[in-house]
Amino acid sequence: MDFVLRGDICYSERPERLTTVPGGYVVCADGVCAGVFDTLPERYAALPLIDESGRLVMPGLCDLHVHAPQFAYRGLGMDLELLEWLATRAFPEESKYADLDYAGLAYDLFVDAMRKSATTRLSCFATLHVPATLLLTEKLEKSGLRGFVGKVSMDRNAPEFLCECSAERGAKDCEKWLREASDRFIQFRPAVTPRFIPACSDELCRQLANLAAEYGAPVQSHLSENLEEIKLVRTLCPDAQSYADAYDRLGMLGPRTVMAHAVYPEDEEIELLKTRGVTVAHCPASNMNIRSGIAPVRKLLRAGVRVGLGSDVAGGQTIDLFRAVTDAVQASKLYWRLVDKNDLALTLSEAFYMATKGGGAFFGRVGSFEPGYEMDLIVLDDAGLPHPQALSVEERAQRAMYLSGECAVTRKFVAGQPIEL
Ligand code: GUN
Ligand code: FE
Repeated sequence: MDFVLRGDICYSERPERLTTVPGGYVVCADGVCAGVFDTLPERYAALPLIDESGRLVMPGLCDLHVHAPQFAYRGLGMDLELLEWLATRAFPEESKYADLDYAGLAYDLFVDAMRKSATTRLSCFATLHVPATLLLTEKLEKSGLRGFVGKVSMDRNAPEFLCECSAERGAKDCEKWLREASDRFIQFRPAVTPRFIPACSDELCRQLANLAAEYGAPVQSHLSENLEEIKLVRTLCPDAQSYADAYDRLGMLGPRTVMAHAVYPEDEEIELLKTRGVTVAHCPASNMNIRSGIAPVRKLLRAGVRVGLGSDVAGGQTIDLFRAVTDAVQASKLYWRLVDKNDLALTLSEAFYMATKGGGAFFGRVGSFEPGYEMDLIVLDDAGLPHPQALSVEERAQRAMYLSGECAVTRKFVAGQPIEL
């Protein structure tokens, strides 16, 4: 579907600033953005016009890290730290996905909420179970959204009911998932998903890395999130220089790897992430809720590491990625105040960039309205935020980000295709 959409346009080409075009036109041709204009060029005059005058028009947001099976219990167990939270909340809940009826009900809730949200692309974790993960992917595929889904792999330090009994069995199940998902789905592609080093043996990781290479699949996992977890990794991988090095020795780090968190990266780890082209999914809400800490995002950015945002539901309590944008800014202010005055707080524009073009790069040419970018677009009705004073489009966009709960996503396109809201 080719179209022109008119509205108050706001997007990000560079982290330093927002680009805004009041009453502008964004043109979609063959699913791709042909450009943004303040007057519509004659050559596009014959295209159908969608008039969203007075509403905000932005690129869809990219959630680089979210756990689909944890959506159903978001907001619970928030007084715990990571390892206890996994043992008492996440693992028991995820074990229920052996039951396809339960999985169907819960995944419908997740996919419906994602469809209606400001997010257009996501990289998500499912559970260990191949049938339930295929069911989730089927539902996501039907939603019109795009992204990656991972069948979770884990073969140690997990309860028996949520553990692959051997590395071989874990690799076999992963391969079955990769094969079936590659055959059946187009818009959601399978990702290799070792849960994290504490739950994955070296042998399992090695075999998973080979599968990722063989199937051209991305890799997603967790890195340096929590101090107890990091201690555990040190004892499990005594030869590794660091947590990131443990993954690297097992062949897991590359430009198609996304690692959630990096709250406590050492300098060598930051260098390694940069060298390998790994994307970090910064998940500030989760880092606060389960008391992991404050990720040194400014340090990562200064070193040239790619950083996007993740909701990390249910460590994070909401899939609303605007919340991740403002949480990222707020957390960085505390980091500057309490930890290191050399690391300036993130600006809203930098955090918005991470949620759009920055994180979008993990999915392709996604997250901007520059020509050639896939046409992921949301229309935001900010009429719920009335104001007596005149506000620029940029100011309205700022408020919409901080007060996203008071705005409505009224229209959404992914790669030029309309999404039913
Ligand atoms: N580390 C390993 N598994 C998880 C998980 O489910 N959530 C978070 N936040 N961290 C993890
Ligand atoms: Fe996570």
